[in-house]
Amino acid sequence: MKNLDWSSLGFGYLKTDYNVRCYYRNGKWGELEVSSEETVTLHMGATCLHYGQEAFEGLKAYRGKDGKIRLFRVEENAKRMIRSAEGVVMAPVPEELFIKAVKKAVELNKDFVPPYESGASLYIRPLLLGLGAQVGVKPAPEYLFIVFVSPVGPYFKEGFKPTPMAIMRGYDRAAPLGTGTIKVGGNYAAGMVPTVLAHEKGYSACLFLDAKEKKYIDECGPANFFGIKDNTYITPESTSILPSITNKSLMQLAEDLGLKVERRHVPEEELATFEEAGACGTAAVISPILRVDDLDEHKTYQISKDGKPGPICEKLYNKLRGIQYGDEPDTHGWVTLLD
Ligand code: PLP
Ligand code: COI
Repeated sequence: MKNLDWSSLGFGYLKTDYNVRCYYRNGKWGELEVSSEETVTLHMGATCLHYGQEAFEGLKAYRGKDGKIRLFRVEENAKRMIRSAEGVVMAPVPEELFIKAVKKAVELNKDFVPPYESGASLYIRPLLLGLGAQVGVKPAPEYLFIVFVSPVGPYFKEGFKPTPMAIMRGYDRAAPLGTGTIKVGGNYAAGMVPTVLAHEKGYSACLFLDAKEKKYIDECGPANFFGIKDNTYITPESTSILPSITNKSLMQLAEDLGLKVERRHVPEEELATFEEAGACGTAAVISPILRVDDLDEHKTYQISKDGKPGPICEKLYNKLRGIQYGDEPDTHGWVTLLD
């Protein structure tokens, strides 16, 4: 294992030894290549640069107490990247190629998978780019699929500790029937101004409302939203949010814990009634929400009364992390062991 200060890692890029790449040319995918280059050479007319014809994924590899490396629900990421590719007319990466590339990228960099005790993990970033000399708005003739990795700590620097979030009605992340349900760069570009503003004002994230009616909770920039009350796990139904694999897993774990699960519109005012709430995602894991301030309507919804994660968030967090690190039985078949 590399000699890094594992437990003080934040969520950032750290150079590793290898990445893997595969080109789509003349209507087919080529061989998987191993690279040590951190850069890519692109034609200046590439569609990914001008028209956002690109998609990405995010998943993690975890080292258990037993030293073994585990991937969490990699097939789900493969399937989502196919939907993202189709959503911006790119050549989809076949599921087997995606999984092979992810495994290879992790195996080649296994010395960068943090030790169990550190609580850190190896973030895996698959990326699909439209290549070629194009000026008109049309799909690229060629594609490049890359998987690189970076050891990471918590996405929100507070880790598993409640943080405040802001609603800013002057910004939308995605249109009701736009690209919000797929993982393409444009969604993140659209969310950047409100995210930076939220950070400047001391919030960990911007919580977006639905773009059409401005009534319902959608999600945060990098994570889905859930609320807990009356022994029920409630998460938004929306045509403009990313179907989070973490959220899907938490819905199952909540059910396993005997909670009811509801996927439905969540009006902003309902925030006042939640006993607990959180943001969830691969990078964010579970980030409990302290309070939500609607900065335009001058309303505050206090969620955590004592500044600590609530008991159900804590149970869900422990269960999820337990499965990911191999401390809990993988009863749903979510884990892929490397080797
Ligand atoms: N929502 C958005 C906009 C995201 O970027 C992410 C991260 O991937 C999520 C939600 C969480 O999804 P997942 O749990 O699959 O990582
Ligand atoms: C993830 O959770 O994997 C994400 O992609 C979120 C963010 C880093 C964009």
